[in-house]
Amino acid sequence: MDKRMFAIFACFAVLLCGCVKKAQPATEASKDDQIVVGFSQVGAESEWRVANTESIKAALSVENGYELIYDDARQEQENQIRAIRNFIQQNVDYIVFSPKLETGWNSILQEAKEAGIPVIMIDRDIIVEEEDLFTAYIGSDFRKEGEKAVVWLENLLEKQGRTEEPIRIVHIQGTIGSSAQIGRTSALEQGIKNNINWEMVAQECGDFTRAKAYEVMGAILEQTKDIDVVYCENDGEALGAIDAMEEVGIKCDANDGVIVISFDATRLGLEYCLKGKIALDVECNPQQGPYVDAIIQKLERGEPIERENLIEETQFDCFTITQKMIDDRKY
Ligand code: AHR
Repeated sequence: MDKRMFAIFACFAVLLCGCVKKAQPATEASKDDQIVVGFSQVGAESEWRVANTESIKAALSVENGYELIYDDARQEQENQIRAIRNFIQQNVDYIVFSPKLETGWNSILQEAKEAGIPVIMIDRDIIVEEEDLFTAYIGSDFRKEGEKAVVWLENLLEKQGRTEEPIRIVHIQGTIGSSAQIGRTSALEQGIKNNINWEMVAQECGDFTRAKAYEVMGAILEQTKDIDVVYCENDGEALGAIDAMEEVGIKCDANDGVIVISFDATRLGLEYCLKGKIALDVECNPQQGPYVDAIIQKLERGEPIERENLIEETQFDCFTITQKMIDDRKY
């Protein structure tokens, strides 16, 4: 090849290389095709929360065509607001967030709306001034969860012939102002109004954690040990309350001791249910990632979506739970 021919060949080769895109692994979308999602998680206060984070991360993965920007707010609403503002500045395609509280979101969601970024809320609901401040909600009906617990307790007490005697209830609440707390609390308070023999002997915040519930239950037990029911707003709290009761020799048992009611139905919660220590565990399903993915994919295709998506949930009690149910549990 003479010098002139070589130069032409070399130029051609360089041009060709410039035009051909770098090969992508078959399963991964190219960076340009990826859907960028900013996800603000409230924290890592419970096993439920960790399972929820894992579900979102698994569904919005690189393999599924996403770039996920994850932020842990460490239980602070201000951190969530700051994270959402960062996502807006980065001009992400979608914002997903699990709001700590029901209120306080109007301004930041207005900013997201003005930037034209759809917001998908998961887990907990919020109260907003204008309907279109978020695109979709995927989560639980917390009031219904609480009502299931109340109906179950009414039935148990009726079977035990305890509709006349005083039923002394300790209530350990979740994070005050979160929709999970508001729904579960309002159901119990309604139950107490409906059943004249039910009495609230203590109501304290356990902040959805085992440590805080252990602490507040310990303080309650210093005031009274005359307790029939402990209604805890998640599994972590139930475990903390049980630890505190067992430490002072109180037995947790639906037939022959304190009736402990809990929410979430995590694997650990269900193990306590099988042992009879948690009498009823109402499910709260953290596996919301596939629902978020499905909604984003519909929005990408310009298809209509449901604005409110409530997840089906069940319940487990100490009389009917089996080891197989626990083995089948994914979280
Ligand atoms: O919002 C859901 C609640 O928050 C879960 O019951 C609890 O475990 C979590 O931390």
